[in-house]
Amino acid sequence: MAQVSQDGRTWLLSGPASSYALHVTDRDELVHLHWGPRITPADAEALAARPLPDDWPFESRLDGREEYPVEGGPRFVRPALSVRTVDGRRGTEWAFDGHETDDGETGDGELRLRFRDGELTVTLHYRMRDDVIERWVTLHNRGPAVELLRADSATWTLPEREHWRLSQLHGRWAAESRLTRSPLTYGEKVIGSRRGHTGHQHLPWVALDTDATEERGEVYGCALGWSGSWRVCVAQLPDARVQITGGAGHDDSGLLMLGTAETYVTPVFAGLWSDGGFGGASRAWHAYQRTYVVPDADRDRPVLFNSWEATGFDISEERQRGLAARAAEMGVELFVVDDGWFGARTSDRAGLGDWTPNPDRFPGGLKPLADHVHGLGMEFGIWVEPEMVNPDSDLYRAHPDWVQFQPGRRRTEYRNQLVLNLARDDVREYLWEQLDGLLSGAPVDYVKWDFNRCSTDAGWPDDPYPQRLWTDHVRGLYALLDRLRAAHPDVAFESCSGGGGRIDLGVLSRTDQVWTSDNTDPLDRLTVQHGFSQLHPARVMAAWVTDSPNAMLNGRVSPLRFRFVSAMAGVLGVGGDLARWGEEELAEAREWVALYKEIRPVVQRGDLYRLRPPEGGLSAVQYVLGDETVVLACLQAQHYGEPVPALRLRGLDPEASYECRETGETYRGALLLHHGLRTGLRGDLDAVVVRLRRLRSDD
Ligand code: DGJ
Repeated sequence: MAQVSQDGRTWLLSGPASSYALHVTDRDELVHLHWGPRITPADAEALAARPLPDDWPFESRLDGREEYPVEGGPRFVRPALSVRTVDGRRGTEWAFDGHETDDGETGDGELRLRFRDGELTVTLHYRMRDDVIERWVTLHNRGPAVELLRADSATWTLPEREHWRLSQLHGRWAAESRLTRSPLTYGEKVIGSRRGHTGHQHLPWVALDTDATEERGEVYGCALGWSGSWRVCVAQLPDARVQITGGAGHDDSGLLMLGTAETYVTPVFAGLWSDGGFGGASRAWHAYQRTYVVPDADRDRPVLFNSWEATGFDISEERQRGLAARAAEMGVELFVVDDGWFGARTSDRAGLGDWTPNPDRFPGGLKPLADHVHGLGMEFGIWVEPEMVNPDSDLYRAHPDWVQFQPGRRRTEYRNQLVLNLARDDVREYLWEQLDGLLSGAPVDYVKWDFNRCSTDAGWPDDPYPQRLWTDHVRGLYALLDRLRAAHPDVAFESCSGGGGRIDLGVLSRTDQVWTSDNTDPLDRLTVQHGFSQLHPARVMAAWVTDSPNAMLNGRVSPLRFRFVSAMAGVLGVGGDLARWGEEELAEAREWVALYKEIRPVVQRGDLYRLRPPEGGLSAVQYVLGDETVVLACLQAQHYGEPVPALRLRGLDPEASYECRETGETYRGALLLHHGLRTGLRGDLDAVVVRLRRLRSDD
């Protein structure tokens, strides 16, 4: 709920542990006052009463203090808003126009601050979701068209501190979401994507701290909910001031033309302050996503089998039936047919865009296989890549102008495919008909939605302002997903983009889980998952057990136990060629799947404690839900015969006793917290699951 000062110019938003305050000066400058631990309205007013420094010719009094720095006037920081009128005037000079709050029984506490520059209205939105603040901006134009060169979602201002440290999640294909921490130096650090999708290179998230540890200290985090090109800039200004500005679009070359009576709404840029260290911040982000972002997050995700690594493009109904039989025996709950079931898709060279089952491979369509899979007691899922087309496809032959292209230029073909222009109504309508038909024609419970190349030639010859394609493609994707979800509410969706190329809060608000990485090597995965968990919860993190030696990437040989425990840290899946697994392996796998089902509520809905990061050889995560605790520990290699360190657990009640479900032994919480739990791990690539239950006095 927003608390407003009597003069209506100072606002205070508070969550259970944090507050955020801002103020409009009598010169209509919107200044940031506070983001951190809870404060009172009187504190906010005391901060508002502090005068801004005087202007002088070489510094701006506003820089590093404004909530949403616009282009123009006495400012030198990167503007969050950059506008050009048709007659070429740039910049915004706004006047405060009032505020509204949505409090009361039905309201969600949203605060809106309205500013006006002539006929352009700029509204800044703030909404507390526990301790996560969601911010976004609406622009509404009543005058002649204006060009939006840049419209960021928010600028976040940190308190004055020395020696900020920046955490980010970087990567590439098969090596996504790797955590790195480095000192922030003067100037700007810009991360983003110029690729039309979120990208494997950076998750749209940053965290800033000065001296936090995993469980202690202040951490500020910001995460953007956008699945196209984006930019986040962390600026270390003079005088220990740091601001983080972020939003959709990768540069200032033009976002869209805002015509008369048109409105543009930016995506949400969410911010979180936590004083619980990196672990506390992650748990708050996870709770926020499970409660407010991810649809149906209280419903646990099933164990799936996916055919991709088993069959590649060599798909047939018979082979799928064989895999399905083995998957069902193993306890799998959802069977997913990956790429290769449609059109002329026998390799990556043809068929994308033609979403009808390949008659040679599925003579009766998908329904017979789907019914068979249902008969085996599993749900049925399919792979699609709706935003793409192979030039060798009926769709492209009929509509070569439906793709993103620059007239007279070469059409870049990555993986032999081109990107459709989802900003076009006719393209979206075609896809809607195809996908709705598919979901209506066979009992499909799950759709894996892939996106296997970046946008390159983002042109749209028929449109007067083709640049808008960068954002309107993403809005088109969202609209299509929303429409499909509304029409088929029981179908779950997974966001995939060659592994983890499209993971962000925007896509997560309309999908049920994400494909974390094409890298299914269980050891590499520990690092990828460690990074992923900084922001996103286990409930959305799909992880498969595949074959050993690892066929996709590195030939690493790893025991089934290690592969399972590594993958059980998220939404467990199996992706190996089950036709080649021996009876012993299948029997062991059945036991692991059964164990996962037992611990699943704790993993998918519990609080995560990262006990040890993957560097250092012993990696362990712990989940706590109510009285239940689960520890997953993976040892890469034991050296010199030294005992593997005990795992000091977290999040337990020191006064309580805990029974180990594996051994029947009882431990005092205080001892588990202080002295730790011995795991018995040894050798190379060893792994263990430990379940503990808190004993109540009546147990
Ligand atoms: C990339 C995905 O990440 C894989 O899992 C698989 O679905 C392939 N695409 C299929 O083309």
